[in-house]
Amino acid sequence: MKAARELLITGLKNPHAMERQPEEMVEWQAERMVAVAGDEVLKNTFGSNALEHFEITAYKSLLAMADRAGIAMRSVLEQSLREEERMARWVDRHVESLTLQYMQKEARAAA
Ligand SMILES: [Fe+2]
Repeated sequence: MKAARELLITGLKNPHAMERQPEEMVEWQAERMVAVAGDEVLKNTFGSNALEHFEITAYKSLLAMADRAGIAMRSVLEQSLREEERMARWVDRHVESLTLQYMQKEARAAA
């Protein structure tokens, strides 16, 4: 099944091309919160969350393609899927504290 194989190869390029280590980005943002303008830190957090969910969906699609193409790569794709799910949970756990830090910073700036 050549077509399925080609679709899989194209599909494999997408999630990795979009990967930008959201955990590091969020940590880096938190560290430089003072220097970040306005609500940029929140928008970046929303973007990280969207990216992780995009990747989760992409890996689920790739799993279906690999199975249909008869290519044995379920375990590596599942490993990537678990990684993306782990990062999505990480962003989810930090959205509240980042929001509260942002609010404190704005309150201090207004005082
Ligand atoms: Fe990711």
